[in-house]
Amino acid sequence: MKALVLCGGSGTRLRPLSHSMPKQLIPVAGRPVLVHVVENLRELGVEEIGVIVGDWREAIEEVLGDGSAYGARVTYIPQEAPLGLAHCVLIAREFLGEDDFVLYLGDTVLTEGITAVAEEFAAVPSAARLVVQKVADPRAFGVAETDADGRVTRLVEKPSEPATDLAVVGVYFFTAAIHEAVAAVPPSARGEREITDAIQWLVDAGHEVRATVHSGFWRDTGRIGDLLECNRELLNGVRRRIGGRVDGASEITGEVVVEEGAVVVRSRITGPVFIGAGAVVRDSHIGPHTAIGAGCAVEAAGITDSILLPGAGVRRVGGVHASVLARESAAGPAAPRLRLAADRPAWVGAAA
Ligand code: TTP
Repeated sequence: MKALVLCGGSGTRLRPLSHSMPKQLIPVAGRPVLVHVVENLRELGVEEIGVIVGDWREAIEEVLGDGSAYGARVTYIPQEAPLGLAHCVLIAREFLGEDDFVLYLGDTVLTEGITAVAEEFAAVPSAARLVVQKVADPRAFGVAETDADGRVTRLVEKPSEPATDLAVVGVYFFTAAIHEAVAAVPPSARGEREITDAIQWLVDAGHEVRATVHSGFWRDTGRIGDLLECNRELLNGVRRRIGGRVDGASEITGEVVVEEGAVVVRSRITGPVFIGAGAVVRDSHIGPHTAIGAGCAVEAAGITDSILLPGAGVRRVGGVHASVLARESAAGPAAPRLRLAADRPAWVGAAA
């Protein structure tokens, strides 16, 4: 089986963060969302990965390269504009050939992996198998209607009166039957070729489409609050590893990763916490649930439940909570280049 990972798109909901990097590359628990995706795919035994790329092609290639670092072979497929998820399948026709494949949105985080779904897809013949999850309010999602046997009978995008509570997660398994469908459906009212329409086309044409309910953690990282939730969830799975330097005046509690080349001085770190390569943390209280990116400089600060993107700096600020600090940003009592993004009360003033 092959995989098609979608990393085009515009990321409008994550602005201003998505001005400086694509959302698929934002690190959660210290590693880009896209790397978590590729690891999930490798767990399925997938080696051939096609990656749809838009304006951020170079940055994405810098992280994944030819895939060999992850035991995979990566083929980049450029998309001229975000013309829809079904458009991505259309332009990947040559790469996909006649093979079965998993379509994986590059901003999707599933912690439990998807091995069980892949096994069901292999065991029970169908043209497509969707991953779905029960949600409290399905109105913001694509919603699957199924019969008693788990066959999908209808898909509705953001219904005002949902018939079920089964939201479609951004992971789909397809046979080559999908190619006829994506070619057949016209662009929708918003000008995109919708994968929902293509799947509905399969159902209407008499193909079997099935759904598997996934009960583990799932978020797409479309918004800041979701990113922080993914960060918390993935940090809960880290194991203590101190590769960098921690001085005798520092106190480390719980599951903490200090990567090689990172330095911790006179600080209290309460796990789960990730401190990336080359970061320096001095006279600070960090954690829990905080990921400090590579090369960050933190001094006399208090930070909980937050993500510092690589190269960010925080000086003489206490009470940083539920925040995402942009790449190379600086926060401090006099912060000339402060760029802070969050969708809930995120920033608690500056402690002198
Ligand atoms: P979305 O989150 O639906 O779209 P977006 O990335 O444009 O974000 P926003 O709504 O905030 O503007 O996309 C889901 C995933 O699919 C994401 O990883 C981007 C990718 N994608 C493509 O690769 N090509 C496309 O044409 C579209 C629409 C999305």
